[in-house]
Amino acid sequence: MRRSLTTPARADGFACSDWKVQQSIPDTRTAAIFLTTVLAAANMKERLWDRFLIVLTDMEENMERRFGIGVIGFGWMGRVHTTSYKRVLDHFPDLGVRPRLVVASDVSAERRHQAELMGFERTVDDWRMVVDDPAVEVISVTTPNALHREIATAVAEAGKHLWVEKPVGRGVEETIAVAEAVRKAGVINEVGFCYRFAPAVAHARDLIAMGAIGEVNHYRGAFLADYANRPDSAASWRFFREDSGSGVLGDLMAHVVDLTQFLVGPIVRLSGRTATMIPQRPKLAVGVGTHFSRVETDELVDVENEDWAGAMFEFESGSLGLLEASRVVVGPRVGLRFEVHGTEGALAWELERMNELQRSKLAAEDPDEGYTTVFAGPGHGEFGAFQPGAGIPMGYDDLRVIEARNFLLSIRDGEQRGPGLDEMVATGRVLQAIERSDARGGWEITQPPVVAGTAG
Ligand SMILES: NC(=O)c1ccc[n+]([C@@H]2O[C@H](COP(=O)([O-])OP(=O)(O)OC[C@H]3O[C@@H](n4cnc5c(N)ncnc54)[C@H](O)[C@@H]3O)[C@@H](O)[C@H]2O)c1
Repeated sequence: MRRSLTTPARADGFACSDWKVQQSIPDTRTAAIFLTTVLAAANMKERLWDRFLIVLTDMEENMERRFGIGVIGFGWMGRVHTTSYKRVLDHFPDLGVRPRLVVASDVSAERRHQAELMGFERTVDDWRMVVDDPAVEVISVTTPNALHREIATAVAEAGKHLWVEKPVGRGVEETIAVAEAVRKAGVINEVGFCYRFAPAVAHARDLIAMGAIGEVNHYRGAFLADYANRPDSAASWRFFREDSGSGVLGDLMAHVVDLTQFLVGPIVRLSGRTATMIPQRPKLAVGVGTHFSRVETDELVDVENEDWAGAMFEFESGSLGLLEASRVVVGPRVGLRFEVHGTEGALAWELERMNELQRSKLAAEDPDEGYTTVFAGPGHGEFGAFQPGAGIPMGYDDLRVIEARNFLLSIRDGEQRGPGLDEMVATGRVLQAIERSDARGGWEITQPPVVAGTAG
């Protein structure tokens, strides 16, 4: 009989240092050996399992998640969203998310054919089939405005992530309905405020935020476009209340307002005015041509919404500014621009020269004071994902690729990033205030009216 056997501590930390065996009968010894072996094996198994979990996590982290994509409405924007999904990994290979073009929908057979040529696995004429498709997790809504509310709400209710074009409906009430649906469903949402993603604009925002131009005291934003500047420029869906809601307000002013609030902050008060300069135009059917089309016919229809809008406004800080948008100007082609003035400097940008930022710094004494050009380059926004050196131009579609990345990153991380429905509601409220102010009037007379017989 062994009085006391102390087992030495083992490297695997498994055996206990003063484990005492009271009896030395063979059964006990065998049982001890058996137990030790089982526990050692279990320990190894446990370590193997841990290793397996680490490898699995590594694989998951490095593995791309595939997202089935649906696009509803295959006009200009449907094609642009599709191209963005296709290109996003070329520019952001570490995204960790691979879009798969599953199904596109359009009422036009020709546009469905284009979608097939661009790589969709299938196309359908009924948008509900996109929403119901189990292989689709992410949906772009790029139809005319009248359909935004119904489709976007259905997308959210189906638990699918939503990239919807501005202005999200025919007015802010419809936008709010969609915002409510995405909030309830908890899905990620993106709204097409693409100009935020221009590297020169991103740089301007950083400069303003870091106080590089001092206190902002004066702002001007405009979108002066010429797409409908002739009487034979087509009356596409954009010109009718039922199809579009407002005219240039939702179409172009939405971008001006979003950029203003993105760069500087909320607009809190305004006085606005709208006008229709070309009251009749030739009609263009939905799904045919573009809003740049011209139509030869003597049959004209009434334009139902505004060609031009303008507003004088106040920021939360009390600083003042001016906003203007037109779809009928002669001269500028796609004149989206802003100029922001501060106590110590100023910044100016325009879409026609998208890769240039004008920057002015107030100096104590400098005869050359005024704007100088900063060319967008690596270090400004996401420029470096497209070109290696400053001054090599990026284009409009590149902004949409950056936007697609923003959207897919939000989905990947389960973390909403702007611009989404919240930002669109904030813009919609400003657009609605311009319409309200216009309806109310509120003009001050500067000249006394001329009374007959008194003129000079
Ligand atoms: N963010 C931007 O820079 C930008 C630029 C242009 C347009 N937009 C917005 O994108 C949206 C689309 O504009 P667009 O210029 O591409 O218009 P578009 O007329 O070129 O395309 C709309 C497409 O929707 C299709 N459609 C109509 N009814 C449909 C239905 N029931 N189901 C499926 N498809 C249907 C039409 O056939 C057409 O092909 C608008 O809301 C517009 O305001 C945004």
